[in-house]
Parts: sequence; structure tokens; C-alpha cells
Amino acid sequence: MAAQVDLQRNHHLMLHGYVELATERSAGSKRIVGGSGVFVYDQSGRPYLEAAAGMWCTILGFNEPELVDAAIEQMRRLPYYHTVAYKTVTPADELADRLAGLAPMKAARVYFGTTGSDANDFLVKAIRYYNNAAGRPRKKKIIARLNGYHGCTLAASALTGIAVNRTAFDVDIPDILHVSEPSYFSQAQPGESEAVFTERLLRELEDTILREGQNTVAAFIAEPVSGAGGVVIPPAGYHEGVRRILDRYDIKFFADEVITGFYRTGRLWGSQSTNLVPDTMTLAKGLTSAYLPLSAAVVPEDIYEGLESGSRSLGFFGHGSTYSGHPVCCAVALKVLDILEKRNIAAHVADVSVHFAQRLQQLREHPAVGDVRSIGLMGAIEFVASKSPRRAFEPVGSFSRQVRQHAEDSHQVICRSLPGRDACAFSPPLIITRAEVDEMFERFGRALDETWRLWGK
Ligand SMILES: Cc1ncc(COP(=O)(O)O)c(C=O)c1O
Repeated sequence: MAAQVDLQRNHHLMLHGYVELATERSAGSKRIVGGSGVFVYDQSGRPYLEAAAGMWCTILGFNEPELVDAAIEQMRRLPYYHTVAYKTVTPADELADRLAGLAPMKAARVYFGTTGSDANDFLVKAIRYYNNAAGRPRKKKIIARLNGYHGCTLAASALTGIAVNRTAFDVDIPDILHVSEPSYFSQAQPGESEAVFTERLLRELEDTILREGQNTVAAFIAEPVSGAGGVVIPPAGYHEGVRRILDRYDIKFFADEVITGFYRTGRLWGSQSTNLVPDTMTLAKGLTSAYLPLSAAVVPEDIYEGLESGSRSLGFFGHGSTYSGHPVCCAVALKVLDILEKRNIAAHVADVSVHFAQRLQQLREHPAVGDVRSIGLMGAIEFVASKSPRRAFEPVGSFSRQVRQHAEDSHQVICRSLPGRDACAFSPPLIITRAEVDEMFERFGRALDETWRLWGK
């Protein structure tokens, strides 16, 4: 009985993230109590098609028994031991070897964290240590991008270029700066071709490096395809151009693959889908299909060698965490890798993503839709109040938030409305079928029509 009363109560003592706190306090949050395939269930048993895979993460859906069994087996064998201070555990070692073998870089080394944020934080610290050890103490700056998202710890927030993640938190830390995002739809000047737009962004990057001083810039960080910033798929030639500039000034390319890793964009890595040649990668989310928290920072041989020789001269490598390489999380990640291979998820995504793109494109004709874009099983619809001349809804984001809410409440499909632009994103579990893709967009299309009608009144 007590549990019943508890479930009805909306106002609990938990402090939730990414909400308007007062709204959350008065209205509460939707309680999800179960899941199956691409569906989740609320406390009254109402099913929702989870078109966002939670936070872009449950790639194998919401009830994969093999992952549960892998966790239980490892829990029974060894529920915890650490991997710092000259100790290790077998699942972490095995997973590091598997990931290093899959990473598109020479003789990679893998550092494990718990969240995407702390994996990015590790890289911020590691590149400083690396350059300090190499006698380049001025080479510390990291260039990130406006509307990029890299997490919520202090350094990851400083890398993030989305306004709501920064406002009032005083997240700026020294030596992190931002350049424009490669969003042709939102950032191109009137009449500017995609090629000219790309050239302009590349020039901005190079000018920034030269203005800051090429010997002061250590790294550039980007998501191969941005997630929270709007599913921005860079134009042709952008990543190749960035790589050429970074090589010219001996600057590392940090690819944040937290969303795009593990076939989200169709290839194993988002970098492969977008011609990005990374120096390092950060991974999380799909790594365990989000069944347990685990992240990884993958660094190439030269960075690792630099850290090692640094620790000879500077002493102890003073970074590590209690849960780094947690054996249960790593055992689940190993099982994810097995399943991806065994069930040929790559082929499934290749097939179903064609249908996903077609269904998404059909919404382009809608009067409120300014742009649709997708890559693999990651897509977005961006809304406009008027297509020509282009006019945004006021305030920006209000329309997408309303569509998202209506889609969820009335049509039982959960997608994400994105901060900073008027867009809804779709990133369903990779196991979604063609029929479920149809269902997802039919439900969403009805919500869009109804919201548009209401808005017009
Ligand atoms: C691209 C990207 N990087 C980093 C992060 C941070 O990951 P986490 O929320 O696990 O800290 C996220 C989270 O959404 C992300 O989308």
C-alpha cells in the first residue's frame, strides 16, 4: 500500500536536471516503470514509443535479456574492484582491448570513466598534462563549437556551446573558446552556397588559431554529428578541411562520439560516416546501451606515450576514479559489442535507416517544417513559422516544445525538443523495425498537424 501512495506522489525530494525547476516541482515528472523493445511504460501501464532511445542511448532497446544476464553473471563473480593504484579487473582489460581494436587510430589506449562528461573532462586534463610534459606549457587552448554539447561537469560545460547549459553557472574556464557550428540551414548567409559557407567556417577556424597563437592551441573538439545542438550534419568537405588546418598547426582533433558511436549514424563511428579522421574519441551511451553508466576516452599511441614519459618526469599520474573500469559495466559493454556483431546491427541500421530517412523527408512539405535532416538512425525536424520569407516561431523553441509535449501526451511517442533551436530530434533504439518507424512518424505527424492547427488559431 505504501508503494501505491508513493507512486501517486509527484512532489519528491529529488532534484532533477534539465527541467524548469518550478514546473517540475508543481507538475512532477512522468514516471517510467518498465520497457520492452522500443517501448517504455508509465505507471498506469500506458506504452510510449521511445523515439529518442532515452537520452540517445538505449541502442538495443529496453529489455535485452543478454545484457541483464551479463550484468548478473559479473555481479556474482566480482561485483566491484577498482582499476587504479596497480590493480585491474578482467572485463575492463578485455573491453579496452576490444575498443582499441575497433578505434580508427594507431595503438590506442583506453581510459574508462562513468559518463560522457567525465570522459571529455579527462581529455581536457590529459592534453594539458601531455603538453606540459612535452615542454609546451602554453599549448593548452581547446577550440569547441557554438551549439556543441559535451556534458555537464565543469570542463565539459565549458566546452559546450549551448546557451542554456552555460547561463548563470559561470562555466567558463581558461583556455576554452568557441567557433561557429557547421549548420548550413541556420548559419548560412543569404545566397551563400554550401561550399562557400564551408570555406567561411574553415577560414574562421584558421583565423582563430592564428589570432590565439598557433603554439597555444592544443585541440579542437567536435561531435561528428551534433546531438543536442540540433543533429547538425556538417557539409561536404568540412571535416576534411578542419583536419588539414589542425595538421598544419599540430593540433589534435577530439571526436566526441558519445552519441554517434556504435552505429547511430550507420557506421560503427560517426567519424567514419562524416569523413572525420580523429586523434581521440570519447564514448558512452551506446557503449552499454545505457544499461549501466560507463564511458571511455580513447587516445592514440603518441598521446599515451607522452603521458607515460610525462609521468616519468612529472611523477605520479594523478587522475583516476573509484568506478573507472567498473567490472559489471564493462561486462555489459562487452556483451553489447558481441550483440552488435552477432545480430549484424550494422546491416539492420543500413536497411531501416533508408526507411527512416524517407519517412522523415515526407514531413518536409508540412508548412511548419523548415528543414529535415538525418544520418543513420539520427534525425531532426526544424520548425519555422513561415518558410518564405523565413521566420522563426517566437520565442524560439516554443513550437517544438509544444509538438513534443503533444506527441507524448496524446500520441504516446517520446522524442526530444532541442535546446536553442526549434527542432525535434529522433534517435530510436537501433533495433527499431520498419513498421515501428512508420508508427513513430504517423503518430508524430498527427501531433504536428494538431499543434499547427492550434497554433494558427
Ligand atoms: C555528444 C555528447 N557528449 C557528451 C555528453 C555527456 O554525456 P553524459 O550525459 O553521460 O555525461 C553527451 C550527453 O548527452 C553528449 O550528447
